[in-house]
Amino acid sequence: MEPMIQVGNLCKSFSTKSGTVEAARNISFSIEKGEIFGIIGLSGAGKSTLVRCLNLLERPTSGTVRVNGKNLTKLSEKELRKERQNIGMIFQHFNLLMQRTALDNVCFPMEIAGISKKEARKKALEYLKVVGLEEKALSYPSQLSGGQKQRVAIARVLASDPKILLCDEATSALDPQTTKAILELIKEINRDYGITVVVITHEMSVVQEICNRVAVLESGTLVESGTVEELFRSPKTEAARRLVFSGRTQIQKMEGKRLVRVTFRDKSSFEPVIANLILTYRTPVNILYADTKNIGGAAEGEMILQLPEIEEVADKMIQYLKDTNMGVEELKSDVG
Ligand SMILES: Nc1ncnc2c1ncn2[C@@H]1O[C@H](COP(=O)(O)OP(=O)(O)O)[C@@H](O)[C@H]1O
Ligand SMILES: [Mg+2]
Repeated sequence: MEPMIQVGNLCKSFSTKSGTVEAARNISFSIEKGEIFGIIGLSGAGKSTLVRCLNLLERPTSGTVRVNGKNLTKLSEKELRKERQNIGMIFQHFNLLMQRTALDNVCFPMEIAGISKKEARKKALEYLKVVGLEEKALSYPSQLSGGQKQRVAIARVLASDPKILLCDEATSALDPQTTKAILELIKEINRDYGITVVVITHEMSVVQEICNRVAVLESGTLVESGTVEELFRSPKTEAARRLVFSGRTQIQKMEGKRLVRVTFRDKSSFEPVIANLILTYRTPVNILYADTKNIGGAAEGEMILQLPEIEEVADKMIQYLKDTNMGVEELKSDVG
């Protein structure tokens, strides 16, 4: 079966007064039907440009964008408008019509599609129910919280019955708890409606929460892609490492020490290993960070250890950890 989205050698450059900006450099990847695919990168990496190329809001300088079996770059404006109806989008700042109620916002795409007002209202109420907001149908966006506004935006997307949902930093303006609830809703929609989801984010936690596979963007280049678990366990590029470690400032300060990042399947198996490690080598190790995350339904643990400065002991400890089948990776001290 053909992938739902297939991007081939996509390049996008902008001419500006100060020269040419290459926002996408020869990017290729594909997304299968029903996947939740993440695109992660720092601010300015080219994420929004790339996602806008997926529905041709931005026309690629070169390369192909195949969506749902059609090469979008080859379509006429009219054909393109039709194909775009399969692609819904939500944004960081929700983009609701402020003069319309929640209900009328959800009705909007249906009105444009020529559905009768009565039918549109009926469907809109159903979609508001799906996103858990039926009692706010008559509220205006200014009367809603950020999370509620994003729920309205999601209901509006559902109203156009899309095959694909593009989320550009859709949770970046929300607090952690609301973020979790919105990601949960996106997962539900993916599952219940079979909608393929593309999640654009600068936050690794979002990717871990929701994505199956992920691509890492840096300066317009796709530097790494794979399952979320692979990226989490063994990021291959410096860019990916930085994203995996972002927010752990305490680690950045540990200059000149030997650090290892250890990943493991479940936390209970970790404690005896560390105890034995210390007993075996009679030397303490510092645990700088420890956490367990839920990745794809499995508990995945992560720990960052500071090893003794004596090279020989540290080397042996690394070997010991490797022998216990943990993911072991030595970190450069400038990580972060
Ligand atoms: N319309 C535009 N004109 C000129 N430069 C642009 C335009 N849109 C984006 N860029 C540049 O392209 C690069 C990628 O931007 P963007 O796709 O918004 O990144 P991200 O979403 O990852 O923050 C940036 O250097 C940005 O300044
Ligand atoms: Mg952006």
